[in-house]
Amino acid sequence: MQKLQSFFYFSPLMLNLFKKRKITIAIDGHSSCGKSTLARDLAKKLRYIYVDSGAMYRAVTLYFIWNEIDLTNEIEIGSALNNIKIQFKTKRRKNLCYLNGELVEDDIRSQEVSDMVSEVAAISQVRRVLVEQQKAFGEKKGIVMDGRDIGTVVFPNAELKIFVTANIEVRSHRRYLELKTRGKEVPFDRVKANLIKRDTIDSTRDDSPLRQADDAIVLDNSELSTKQQLQAVLKLTKMYI
Ligand code: DC
Repeated sequence: MQKLQSFFYFSPLMLNLFKKRKITIAIDGHSSCGKSTLARDLAKKLRYIYVDSGAMYRAVTLYFIWNEIDLTNEIEIGSALNNIKIQFKTKRRKNLCYLNGELVEDDIRSQEVSDMVSEVAAISQVRRVLVEQQKAFGEKKGIVMDGRDIGTVVFPNAELKIFVTANIEVRSHRRYLELKTRGKEVPFDRVKANLIKRDTIDSTRDDSPLRQADDAIVLDNSELSTKQQLQAVLKLTKMYI
């Protein structure tokens, strides 16, 4: 009996971990509204996997640019998709995107990629392949994924869905500063025009357009700091975990 008891001994911390059920968290929203920051911070706090689905569309776009893929040629697109492997690795607390083994975190954030990514993301052939990979990432739950169709298409059964929004001036400013921090000086007006254009294409495309899922909770973070938005969403997760 004594032996049996020690065999089944669990520390209070372990018991706590067992108690916590893992959920799926879907975060959607317009371009540069801070959803990736929120998703990354949330995943870190909850010790969940974080997947930036936008990075996957950007990586495909980068491959298409590098290999001069004709966006009107289904056969070319199909064979290009067969040659693309996207991975994420965490290094020094940063979530980094790799395309066929090459680190492309900076390249996928370039203005050239931003200018073309919505067009690529509107191609159903591309979406089919990426959505399948995204669903596989979430098979075991314990995941936070951000994008445009996560709550509607990728994880329609996610326990928690957040739709993040912020006004266009705030979003443009954030994106402008992000680019500047990366050493890329792009005029503010060009940044803003790109966001408006991408929002329009992303929301009006035929295949899985950006829209708020019926059961999503809206979070307007125009006047919230990253810390405040994280606190607000952590409170919500308490209802499920
Ligand atoms: O989140 P982001 O701005 O890095 O995304 C880049 C583009 O990818 C965006 O313009 C729309 C597209 N996208 C999409 O169509 N579906 C997703 N789940 C994520 C991104």
